[in-house]
Amino acid sequence: MTFCGVCLVLLAIQNGAAAASTGISDDYFVSIDRDGDFANGCTKFFFSGWNQWEAVEMGAGAPVLHGPSLPPNMTSPQLLREIMDQAVSSGLTVMRAMAFGVSPEYALETSPGQYSETIFRGMDYMLDQARQRGIKVLLALVNNWGRTGGVDEMLGWSSTKPDSIHESYFSDPGSRQIYKQRASAVLGRINVYNGRRYSEDPTILGWNLINEPRCFQCPDAIQSWIQEMVPYLKSLDGNHLLSIGEEGFYSSQDPARARSDPQSNGSWALTEGQDFLFNHNVSGLDFATMHSWVDNWLDANEDFLRTWIRQHIADAAFLKLPLVLEEHGKWVKDGTSATQQLRDQFYSIVYQEVEASAKSGGPMKGAAFWQYYAEGQIGPAGEGWASGLYGVRRQDSTWGLVQNHASVMKGLNTWSSSCNTAKSARTPAVKDCSSTRVNGTAGTGYEGPNCDIDIDECVRGTAGCASSAACRNTPGGFTCQCFMGYTGNGTSCMATSDVGRTANSYVSSGTAQLACNEGSNVLYPPTAPGFRHDPTNYTDSSPSLKGGFGSNFNTSAIECAVACQTASSCNAFSYNPFLQQCFLKADPSSDICQGQTTTCQDAQYGTKYSCGQWQTYLRQSAPAASLQPAAFGRHL
Ligand SMILES: *[C@@H]1O[C@H](CO)[C@@H](O)[C@H](O)[C@H]1NC(C)=O
Ligand SMILES: *[C@@H]1O[C@H](CO)[C@@H](O)[C@H](O)[C@H]1NC(C)=O
Ligand SMILES: *[C@@H]1O[C@H](CO)[C@@H](O)[C@H](O)[C@H]1NC(C)=O
Ligand SMILES: *[C@@H]1O[C@H](CO)[C@@H](O)[C@H](O)[C@H]1NC(C)=O
Ligand SMILES: *[C@@H]1O[C@H](CO)[C@@H](O)[C@H](O)[C@H]1NC(C)=O
Ligand SMILES: *[C@@H]1O[C@H](CO)[C@@H](O)[C@H](O)[C@H]1NC(C)=O
Ligand SMILES: *[C@@H]1O[C@H](CO)[C@@H](O)[C@H](O)[C@H]1NC(C)=O
Repeated sequence: MTFCGVCLVLLAIQNGAAAASTGISDDYFVSIDRDGDFANGCTKFFFSGWNQWEAVEMGAGAPVLHGPSLPPNMTSPQLLREIMDQAVSSGLTVMRAMAFGVSPEYALETSPGQYSETIFRGMDYMLDQARQRGIKVLLALVNNWGRTGGVDEMLGWSSTKPDSIHESYFSDPGSRQIYKQRASAVLGRINVYNGRRYSEDPTILGWNLINEPRCFQCPDAIQSWIQEMVPYLKSLDGNHLLSIGEEGFYSSQDPARARSDPQSNGSWALTEGQDFLFNHNVSGLDFATMHSWVDNWLDANEDFLRTWIRQHIADAAFLKLPLVLEEHGKWVKDGTSATQQLRDQFYSIVYQEVEASAKSGGPMKGAAFWQYYAEGQIGPAGEGWASGLYGVRRQDSTWGLVQNHASVMKGLNTWSSSCNTAKSARTPAVKDCSSTRVNGTAGTGYEGPNCDIDIDECVRGTAGCASSAACRNTPGGFTCQCFMGYTGNGTSCMATSDVGRTANSYVSSGTAQLACNEGSNVLYPPTAPGFRHDPTNYTDSSPSLKGGFGSNFNTSAIECAVACQTASSCNAFSYNPFLQQCFLKADPSSDICQGQTTTCQDAQYGTKYSCGQWQTYLRQSAPAASLQPAAFGRHL
């Protein structure tokens, strides 16, 4: 699904361990054993997993996330590690992610056949972090939803399309070619951090051809697309399990099964172009996929959920394919215990059905919930309360169910009859760079198979600078330097009286506060330590995104730092203390003022400003027109 859960419904209606280790015990390709179970080396591999929507841009160091926000005081690679650590400690072993950046600034493919090295490195990092923790990653190669990395974007690039409607995608030869080119680039990618070619990396559990293919009233187009792509993918990669990535709707061709569709047989699901049984009857597919979105599908009914899962289990058994419930979620529209309990009921049903099948030798191998929220993450605008519609936090009762389920699934991982360990030998050993010497000093400032890629500790969030210090990456190392207005050695910085004075001038008390003062840059001046550093290398000349990742007006670093740090209720700005920047969020239509309309007040002048328009942060005395437009680009 998209991070905007509601969009699904709308569309449907409109359409209708240690880094150094080389012998990690579970570093084998997931395979299918003689019993039809997933196996990881010599043990069965029943799993419990989760979806991580923005994993690739997190790995790349995105300064802003468009789904749940970054927690304060964390960089996105740090968040990615934190989430994986939590997953491991809770027994989760599979992460499902998109094999591309999902937001325009973080596009993997920027134009047909052109790929962003930064974003690819984000995926490299994500995979290598998963490898270090023994997590397997299930990756979707393209998305039916959203433009970036999606079907509609590819269709837009195609020169052979009959028209631009979504439904043309699956039969358009040009789009098919663009898809194949992307798939080939991704599968052939060599991970810069561990030297593994993706097609030979056992960290990858398998591939989804596409996330949730939908083609309104064109089932044949989807079917022929699958029939063409399965052998193509298999020709590129014989190591990994291949699947579709579909929700698993039944079509009107099969009225008996269609009764288990959402809203029974009269539903929109009949005409979305899928047919679970038919689609999966393609030689080369290794496992079947299903999703379950009771709210988005307008059927938040426990009986529906049970029937839906059981029907797919029966059909997967008939097809003799393992089955994975790749996505399931349940809205919690507010923080009340009643809605949380309701979510728990639905999660319990999912886990009961999955466990029953897995324990009895049925086809179900695991489920992945949507989605985990780390401490301090806030849901995107339009998703109601702070946890978003689907966020599961550790303190939620739902998390207990997740952990119990993970433990049950792990308990099923007994000896597998057919040990498949041969392939792991094909992946290169990963070198330990921890003793690399930089100018005679041992350190871990480099990584990669040859220990020659500089680690940007500031972006990784490993430098440990004080939150009021600028982190600056250097070859093989980094420096921490206190902000202007602060004194100290960089790992510890104390505010001077200047800071207090600035705070009094520009920041009011209460819930609405002025973020930055007149003519201020929300960034530091180029001469200040830690001036803008967008590790994703995003540059956008589009006027509609003016202000994205910060405008470039002149200011004093103290004022900006103070203002941005304290402007917590005004979410137009995002201050990242590790990157030492204050960012205006990129997309004014969706990211500014999360969840509510916020006004910001200038304590000095008593003027109220709308947080929705960054220009309004300028003080009255300076007409906006006299200010120069933001200068975009890199200031590394
Ligand atoms: C961020 O770090 C600063 C300084 O260490 C601390 O005062 C603040 O509470 C932190 N914020 C959060 C949300 O942890
Ligand atoms: C960053 O962007 C510039 C300009 O588009 C490009 O030349 C450069 O290769 C990019 N760097 C990386 C690491 O992607
Ligand atoms: C479909 O549903 C309608 C009404 O809900 C019912 O009358 C009809 O018999 C159903 N058809 C099938 C094939 O189940
Ligand atoms: C699967 O496809 C084969 C032909 O490839 C066909 O004979 C068979 O009936 C199909 N099975 C189903 C369940 O559609
Ligand atoms: C290593 O020494 C070279 C030459 O003196 C210098 O340019 C470089 O900055 C040094 N690197 C580090 C990490 O100190
Ligand atoms: C920095 O200063 C703090 C506080 O004085 C001290 O505890 C810490 O050891 C210092 N760190 C370094 C790297 O000098
Ligand atoms: C920024 O401010 C300084 C001091 O007021 C001034 O000298 C400089 O020209 C300004 N820079 C820009 C780009 O306006």
